[in-house]
Amino acid sequence: MSSGSTPSANIANTLMLRAFTDERLPRPPVWLLRQAGRYLPEYRATRAKAGGFMDLCRSPSFCAEVLLQPLERYKLDAAIVFSDILTIPDAMGLGLSFGVGEGPKLAHPLQDEASIAALRVPDVSSLQYVFDAVAECKRALTQNGVQSVPLIGFSGSPFTLACYMVEGAGSQNDFATTRRMMLQRPDLLERVLAANEQIATDYLAQQAHAGANALMLFDSWGGVLSPAQYERFSLASMRRIIATLKARLPNVPIILFSKGAAHSFAAMAAAGADALHVDWQSDLSLARAAAGKQITLQGNFDPLLLTTDVETIQRTVGETFTSFDAKHRYIANLGHGITPDAKPELVAALVNAIRA
Ligand code: CP3
Repeated sequence: MSSGSTPSANIANTLMLRAFTDERLPRPPVWLLRQAGRYLPEYRATRAKAGGFMDLCRSPSFCAEVLLQPLERYKLDAAIVFSDILTIPDAMGLGLSFGVGEGPKLAHPLQDEASIAALRVPDVSSLQYVFDAVAECKRALTQNGVQSVPLIGFSGSPFTLACYMVEGAGSQNDFATTRRMMLQRPDLLERVLAANEQIATDYLAQQAHAGANALMLFDSWGGVLSPAQYERFSLASMRRIIATLKARLPNVPIILFSKGAAHSFAAMAAAGADALHVDWQSDLSLARAAAGKQITLQGNFDPLLLTTDVETIQRTVGETFTSFDAKHRYIANLGHGITPDAKPELVAALVNAIRA
């Protein structure tokens, strides 16, 4: 990292930030995708207090409360801002809601030319509640002027946001409505992507200004595309977002996660991010071979491990770290988010096995 005001100033545990440098570490840092969430009874209690999931996201103090919950239980080396990627389509007026026990729904999906022509890039100030949550999360991590662990801000990728915006919900068929638009009217999808790129860039920059020490781009559905489609409809816009952020915020590390796109590790590594997140269907050694030694890798334990048993977890961690150098440019994590049926005591077993 370059000199100047480094993002590690006044952070007690800098292990995760040091994993973005060439330093050999005593052990790999560890944090977990969706470490705050429904598998924790205390999270479910806070959400009930808040009223609903988006009410929780709109309350900086509740966001800070759930941010701290996993840190109180486990020895984690980073925290991720409590929010959601769908705040952006919500700010675009697409009518986001989360039913109890259901995935997200958008009341006004972008399924015709008229709605896409009417799509406006929202003013980033309409997402001020997220930046307030970032600042409150940072305050909650800080005591006597010292922040305990780095705070990660995030955004959905333009393509993954477009998947929800066009489909209007999650998908059982690899976002067929979105992919059909891509095949028939790539110009329409590209208009949605351009709007998303513009707001996601400012959204991430504002999170860094509000105190995020690293930024992550979640391209959860990039893997439904072929390599050529992935380059055109997903990676191209992420590459531009990264370039803009690097010009504005050279000291803030950026992590790129395209789930299911292992075919493009080399292209991702050349996109300018500091780290690649590796999903559980790929392999850390494969990613290292394709991406090279100069990029940090993050991942990729199977979230399903958190529904097995302590012995299975210890054996898997042991096997993973015999075949992969975990002390250089590596951040231990899951290959995808913790599921609601994860057992809290097995999360502890995984974190402890990684630290051992
Ligand atoms: O600790 C953390 O990581 C919490 C912060 C966080 C949430 N969502 C909270 C959340 C983060 C980083 C996300 C990212 C997110 N949101 C992604 C990208 C990561 C990924 O998993 O691929 C995506 C695709 C979404 C969209 C989304 N939000 C879906 C599909 C759902 C419903 C299904 C599910 O997994 O829960 C959500 C809701 C959501 N976001 C919850 C949480 C804790 C559960 C809401 C509840 O309390 O019922």
